[in-house]
Amino acid sequence: MSVITSIEDLRVLAEKRVPRMFYQYADSGSWTEGTYRANEADLARIRLRQRVAVNLEQRSTRTRLLGQPAGMPVAIAPTGLTGMQHADGEILAARAARDFGIPFTLSTMSICSIEDVAEGTGGHPFWFQVYVMRDRGFVERLIARARAGNVSALVLTLDLPISGQRHKDLKNGLSAPPRMTLANLANIAGKPRWWWRMLHTRRRTLGNIVGHIEGLGDNALLSEWCARQFDPTLNWDDVRWIRGLWDGKLVLKGIQDVEDARMAASTGADALIVSNHGGRQLDGAPSSIVALPRIADAVGQRMEVHMDGGIRSGQDVLKALALGARGTYIGRSMLYGLGAMGQAGVTRALEIIHKELDLTMAFCGRTRIEDIDRGVLFDDSDAVPAAPLALAA
Ligand code: FNR
Repeated sequence: MSVITSIEDLRVLAEKRVPRMFYQYADSGSWTEGTYRANEADLARIRLRQRVAVNLEQRSTRTRLLGQPAGMPVAIAPTGLTGMQHADGEILAARAARDFGIPFTLSTMSICSIEDVAEGTGGHPFWFQVYVMRDRGFVERLIARARAGNVSALVLTLDLPISGQRHKDLKNGLSAPPRMTLANLANIAGKPRWWWRMLHTRRRTLGNIVGHIEGLGDNALLSEWCARQFDPTLNWDDVRWIRGLWDGKLVLKGIQDVEDARMAASTGADALIVSNHGGRQLDGAPSSIVALPRIADAVGQRMEVHMDGGIRSGQDVLKALALGARGTYIGRSMLYGLGAMGQAGVTRALEIIHKELDLTMAFCGRTRIEDIDRGVLFDDSDAVPAAPLALAA
């Protein structure tokens, strides 16, 4: 591959290097994938407003997320099975984030454990995402481990009390942990870099779970445990319960609706994430960028409003900030970098987004993150409708 200049370049390389079942686990959404596609497409539709003759010499993308300094308003989103995109994936991504000065969020369903990431990053603080499982004792222990592992913010995911269905995962036999069918093994055989590294790590199962639940070691049992444990009774009392267990920064992830945002604000959480789980849960839900402005207007004065879904460039970050987000997260942009080139690929993804954000801000005449508002968006409400393509030709 020639020089990598965009997240799309990283995606193409990841598709070549990562076994199909894991690549497609990342690059997929639920059912028709309509919401998955809308996350990117709705961002792409928004036009920016160019300004000129503004002194652009002193520029900075620095900001604060949850009171913590960040090199840009971007954090790494929690993604399950990240250590299957690349051996030791969570540790590598956490190191890239640490070195870049942005938050890394570890998923409950990660391959590397809380302890692995704490050790692998030299005790640098990171964020941890928790699911409410039926086994509340396990959740309490998980939170205690997060505290011991120097976790500086807890992200509670609310939009997965039950799982959305992805056709590709069912066809590929992707489960947690993954099942190795003959077809998968044949595909993996053609990805030598991937399996060579995988052979040289001991981290190949769900690190936060295996060894922390009595009697769970066998993959079949683990799969069954995971399928049983997501708790469909999840409700606001559970959120308050978690709030009581964790006195640090708390972020509620997976909010799409203004009424839910108001409920979230009343729990005393520090932030919420406008998210549709990367289009992996309710197919037919609006894109995050469409859901964002109303939520930011409703609760943005009471808590930090963050957003994820479809962020593939610095332009996307700027658009999310303009519509009320204080910070954004990248899921797939990180996974593609990781699958393509390990830690260097995640760093490359961050560099690309950072540079695009810096230059795009400048083209819009802004030099500081705190000055970004709706004024960077082009108001096309009075624009002459574009001629239909056929006539223009
Ligand atoms: C996710 N996401 C997710 N969220 C979460 O809270 N816990 C998890 O374990 C996972 N796992 C997961 C796996 C994969 C492969 C993906 C792509 C996503 C959702 C994630 O945190 C985030 O909301 C989306 O990825 C954001 O959309 P983009 O940036 O991927 O478009």
